[in-house]
Amino acid sequence: KELRKPLVAGNWKMNGNRSLVQDFCKSLAGSEQVDIVVCPPCGYLSYFDQASFALGAQDVSHLNNGAHTGDHSVEMIKELGCRYVIVGHSERREDHQESSELVAEKALAVLTGGLTPIVCVGEPLDIREDNKEQEFIGKQLTALFDKIPAELLSQCVIAYEPIWAIGTGKTASPEQAQEVHKFIRDELAKVGSSVAEKVRILYGGSVKPSNASELFNQPDVDGGLIGGASLTTEDFTAICQSA
Ligand code: G3P
Repeated sequence: KELRKPLVAGNWKMNGNRSLVQDFCKSLAGSEQVDIVVCPPCGYLSYFDQASFALGAQDVSHLNNGAHTGDHSVEMIKELGCRYVIVGHSERREDHQESSELVAEKALAVLTGGLTPIVCVGEPLDIREDNKEQEFIGKQLTALFDKIPAELLSQCVIAYEPIWAIGTGKTASPEQAQEVHKFIRDELAKVGSSVAEKVRILYGGSVKPSNASELFNQPDVDGGLIGGASLTTEDFTAICQSA
């Protein structure tokens, strides 16, 4: 774990406005100990002036610039100042029918463009109740591993977000999170032990200032992907300090 710098990313989803951007630029400080990333809706990215933290996009197209209405390319996201891109969030998998294969294409485009993808995986409630979460997540990972060569895979960040814990106030217990994170790391180890050592695995799903340190203290939890609690500088700062 010492080899991996903790990372905390805030996913604003379709929330926020220019005044929240100003708040963050004024009140959220970057850190030497933790990589701090804020992912606002794309249109707000260029309003982040002189932020001392990193920026990320919430999605990207796997295609190059061209006739693709409504999309943003990696090149554009990069020009807007992003170093990270969330891909495969469960809300995109559901709202836009994104398959694990498409998510892998996006991750590859992000890596090829020199940015870091935060690849989201995670199971819905019925799969968890059937105790099939490892099988489910295993398939999401296989699609990724099939497309990304090992040397690029080690630059990925993976976020485990159990769908039943997103925006529900229900958090996975630290033990439940650790169990899945360990599973993900073991799967990465099948690709290569150095890949498994390097890849940071974030937990996401109702992380709050009150539960963050317990989750982040687990051996295979390297930080968090934060939704609701990333919308105020107070909560988000407190969570970053727990990492
Ligand atoms: O990507 C972050 C996420 O889906 C978790 O959302 O609101 O439960 O922290 P939330």
